[in-house]
Amino acid sequence: MIFLSEWIKACSSEQVKEGQLFGFTHNEKKILIANLKGKIHATDLSCTHANVDLSTGFLSDEGVRCPLHLSVFNLEDGCPQNLPAETPLTVYNIKIDGNDIYVEV
Ligand code: FES
Repeated sequence: MIFLSEWIKACSSEQVKEGQLFGFTHNEKKILIANLKGKIHATDLSCTHANVDLSTGFLSDEGVRCPLHLSVFNLEDGCPQNLPAETPLTVYNIKIDGNDIYVEV
């Protein structure tokens, strides 16, 4: 079976400045863009524990922290660093073209 991916525009770099989070939906797929120390990451937007919107969470050196039960997800591999979340977030490839950030979905 062949899985086709596509690159979609997520936002402009002005919308996710250093230390900021940005969430959006594309065809029912919910994606989080995070700018951690100038590096852009893309993961699932919904916490794997109880579907909370992680763009309302907190960004720190360890990753993105869910605002509800405070699990932190590593942005490189999506893995939760502490309970109660146990399932990793999906991590997406990103590319930057000029001022635009694209995600491979
Ligand atoms: S909803 Fe995110 S840790 Fe519980």
